[in-house]
Amino acid sequence: MDYTVSLHTHLEGSVRPETFSELMGNDIKADLTVNKNCTSLKEFLDKIACGYPLTQRRQNLKRVAYEIVESASQNNCLYLEVRFGPTLHTSGDMQLEDTVEAVLEGFNEGERNFGVVTRAIISTLRHEDPAVSIRLAKLASKYKDLGVVGFDIAGDEANFKALPHKRSFEIAKEAGLGITAHAGEAGEPGNVKEAILELNASRIGHGIRVIEDKEVVEIAKERGIVFEVCPTSNIHTGAVASIKEHPIKQMVNMGLKVTVNDDDPQTSQITLQGEYEIANDLLDKATTRKNLLINSLEASFVSDTIKKVLLKKIHEM
Ligand code: ADE
Ligand code: ZN
Repeated sequence: MDYTVSLHTHLEGSVRPETFSELMGNDIKADLTVNKNCTSLKEFLDKIACGYPLTQRRQNLKRVAYEIVESASQNNCLYLEVRFGPTLHTSGDMQLEDTVEAVLEGFNEGERNFGVVTRAIISTLRHEDPAVSIRLAKLASKYKDLGVVGFDIAGDEANFKALPHKRSFEIAKEAGLGITAHAGEAGEPGNVKEAILELNASRIGHGIRVIEDKEVVEIAKERGIVFEVCPTSNIHTGAVASIKEHPIKQMVNMGLKVTVNDDDPQTSQITLQGEYEIANDLLDKATTRKNLLINSLEASFVSDTIKKVLLKKIHEM
């Protein structure tokens, strides 16, 4: 089995329905996973939110984090960056710090047992008060050398703006964290431009609508911006009408750097290997799995020492 890497996986979209039933005594698989009625990002996010009751307890949040690494290893994943929103897990006893510690414990235990190098990205959400985003950027900075490598903004792009959160991105950048931002998924290509120029993002979550604006394509190319493409998720959020119409090949043909990722694998009931296979079917033969993995690792927020070791494995495959 070929290697995989994911730079864009959400913890909240990785709650196994079986784990939810086991720990909560309630089978909500139908609520947690996509169906035909799910046609917008908002509806997709509402599905993900059905899992929130589980992760309000520290041991449950750690278990979900651990199982993400286990699933990654089943997909022959070499390296994984998982993002999560600390504010989504504090309606029980946990403080923001506790959520980060629980997640990092799960990742560390998973990395030890399964051998998948795993790092965390902290996500703020578009609908949050910008003051909360600043708290989250400071929180991310505090755990920078303990497993947190980046800062992101996620949530409902169709209805909320990213620019009010600019200060939090400055704080994260000053602390030496990697910067990525969801943009151009459920919103216009101008949001991709804003993420690059105002939030200082070196990577864009999705960003598929960039193809609609030549100026933004040029900005992204000049700066070597890397796009975290999540093919099936784009169908489930209504960002793309069908997989045949997915613009990943067009992005590559325009000279953009793309990577393949799974976004919310349990919500979408997909696998990371499956997403690489879909990408392979959509792309020209000239774009190989190896090319995609190199793009991911070069753009990853892991230390240069680990990056070198992992790149060597890919060059030898
Ligand atoms: N949170 C989880 N999945 C997301 C997505 N696809 N877009 C924005 N925020 C998200
Ligand atoms: Zn995402």
